[in-house]
Amino acid sequence: MKITILGTGAVGLTLAGRLQSVGHSITLGTRNPEKTASRDEANPMTGESFAHWYKNNPALQLKQNAASVEGADLIINATRGDASLDVLESIGANKLQGKTMLDIANPLDFSKGMPPTLFVSNTTSLAEQIQEKFPGLKVVKALNTMSASIMVHPESIAGDHNVFVCGNHEEAKNTTIDVLKSLGWKQKNILDLGDITAARGTEMLLPIWLRLWNTFGDVNFNFHIQRN
Ligand SMILES: NC(=O)c1ccc[n+]([C@@H]2O[C@H](COP(=O)([O-])OP(=O)(O)OC[C@H]3O[C@@H](n4cnc5c(N)ncnc54)[C@H](OP(=O)(O)O)[C@@H]3O)[C@@H](O)[C@H]2O)c1
Repeated sequence: MKITILGTGAVGLTLAGRLQSVGHSITLGTRNPEKTASRDEANPMTGESFAHWYKNNPALQLKQNAASVEGADLIINATRGDASLDVLESIGANKLQGKTMLDIANPLDFSKGMPPTLFVSNTTSLAEQIQEKFPGLKVVKALNTMSASIMVHPESIAGDHNVFVCGNHEEAKNTTIDVLKSLGWKQKNILDLGDITAARGTEMLLPIWLRLWNTFGDVNFNFHIQRN
């Protein structure tokens, strides 16, 4: 599948490397390709600079955001939540028309320090705001409730644990689920929560996720729904 990932942070690069290794063709979207390619400061989450990572992943294409989505079968939004709408606006509704987008971004507000709060919640969500602003885009929310390393290596957590999926378009959810399976997610652990309004719930898991990070001291955990 031809996949474009918007965002060159820990999530974008972790997904890019792994999706490419399982056979997908990856383009990375960024605001300024030249500036991004020469970025040599280490990412605090991965410990690696973009320049170093890019040298080891030469098959990847790095393009300006608007150009990056051309020809994509799937777009992945791995931008900062508070920048996601601006990035999509800079691409433009025409280029996004009819596309499927897996939205991983969380609406985190770091302006008052740690822990961040949510800048939208309860009656709406970032995924819904994106869907409303770009009605021609088929938004699917998934993978936002776990660390990047678990997104791409679910087997790194022992036993069953879950990834939540929601969105208004069945075929877009099916495309997303196929990609999740290509990363190693088992069908029984992929929970379809219905339409895009379920993103309120999955985005509002972030305060408890952040608290668990603080409690455990690492991000090697995930949610598992147990039922009879
Ligand atoms: N880190 C995790 O493990 C994790 C887990 C679950 C969900 N998430 C969510 O996934 C998303 C990506 O996480 P991350 O840690 O990779 O994020 P990040 O490094 O903070 O940012 C990702 C990208 O957002 C773009 N960006 C940042 N500020 C911008 C601005 N003002 N205007 C336009 N673009 C801007 C940048 O792209 P360019 O510089 O390339 O243009 C940047 O590389 C976030 O929404 C996060 O909440 C993260």
